[in-house]
Amino acid sequence: VGQTMRGRVVFEDDGKTVQRVFLGGMADYLSTIRRSRRIILCGCGTSYHSAIAVRQLMEELTELPVTLELASDVLDRQCPFFRDDSIIFISQSGETADTLRAMEYAKSKGALCIGIVNVVGSAISRATDCGIHINAGAEIGVASTKAYTCQITAMVLLALALSEDSRSRAARRLDIMRGVALLPDYMRRALALDGQMLELARTLVNENSLLLFGRGYNYATALEGALKVKEVALLHSEGILAGEMKHGPLALVDETLPLVVVATRDSSYVKQKSVIEQLRARDARLILIVGEDDDSLDRFADKNMIIKVPEIVDCLQPLVNIIPLQLLSYHLTVLRGHNVDQPRNLAKSVTVE
Ligand code: UD1
Ligand code: BG6
Repeated sequence: VGQTMRGRVVFEDDGKTVQRVFLGGMADYLSTIRRSRRIILCGCGTSYHSAIAVRQLMEELTELPVTLELASDVLDRQCPFFRDDSIIFISQSGETADTLRAMEYAKSKGALCIGIVNVVGSAISRATDCGIHINAGAEIGVASTKAYTCQITAMVLLALALSEDSRSRAARRLDIMRGVALLPDYMRRALALDGQMLELARTLVNENSLLLFGRGYNYATALEGALKVKEVALLHSEGILAGEMKHGPLALVDETLPLVVVATRDSSYVKQKSVIEQLRARDARLILIVGEDDDSLDRFADKNMIIKVPEIVDCLQPLVNIIPLQLLSYHLTVLRGHNVDQPRNLAKSVTVE
């Protein structure tokens, strides 16, 4: 994440306050994007989850409608794309066939195509009109981890650059830029939860299923946490938008099924508290992700089931919250005797549709 920001985040003399964001590859295209009818975020797998994580912020800062598309679905539906659309294609490898084909389709409709790509010189990096290399370094393991957090970081920077001239957003932008400067340190602090995640993995090693509930900025955290557990630990896991809990998933809840609820303090906090109360009333086995100085949820779960993370500005919190879940899936995988780097049946770049 530090490398994603390097050369792009300009600090004041104190080295701590962010003065501005400069994205060399985007500078000539920002005004076109600002004038577009809408922004569409498109990708597959983890890259799609990074789109979900930044959607709300992108909408808030650009004041444009921001929609999400799974790349394969763009092709299946032959989505209506237009000349005044700005479409952001997110791909770690830059080679994923579905994303590449969706991008070619968007180009044929005249839309502005922007890449958020890790691999310089990859097909998507070359074929897009402009973009941002996330500079995460080579990601060897099949399960995307550092690319996920760096994709979110790059798109947060893009949202900040797009709203540079907005007076009404100035205070909010300042808050986020302060958070951006703190991010690497906060993520390092979240990595220190490794020991607790190993212990937690030991208690979950023989489970058959794990559900994760998130909402708002952390809906993506629930989805991505579940995907990691699924793809490397080979344990059935589902990420659920907490607002949907009472529309189906609640029927699964009993005293045996482990549930993770993300409840860090943002505008969804009160609602997440109520979700926790409803789950607890059904004797659910709760694992909570909460702010490190938040004691108000301690009574809902055993001490070792409460994961306390450092809290940063709301829109950056998903970057911190995903780390304990990535560590949990790592330890679950090792304890269950599976290969962390090369999960069964999966490939790093899927270059066929
Ligand atoms: C670039 C250099 C970087 C150098 C910096 C100095 C490259 C790859 N990067 O970084 O080594 O330190 O200038 O200012 O030479 N692009 C796409 N699609 C994508 C991603 C990028 O078209 O998916 C384009 C960008 O619009 C840009 C170029 O590729 O024209 C390089 O992008 P990026 O590496 O993000 O630009 P800088 O951060 O300016
Ligand atoms: C999938 C991988 O096939 O491709 C996922 O198994 C990955 O882990 C997805 O997130 C998208 O890959 P990329 O390179 O386009 O980000």
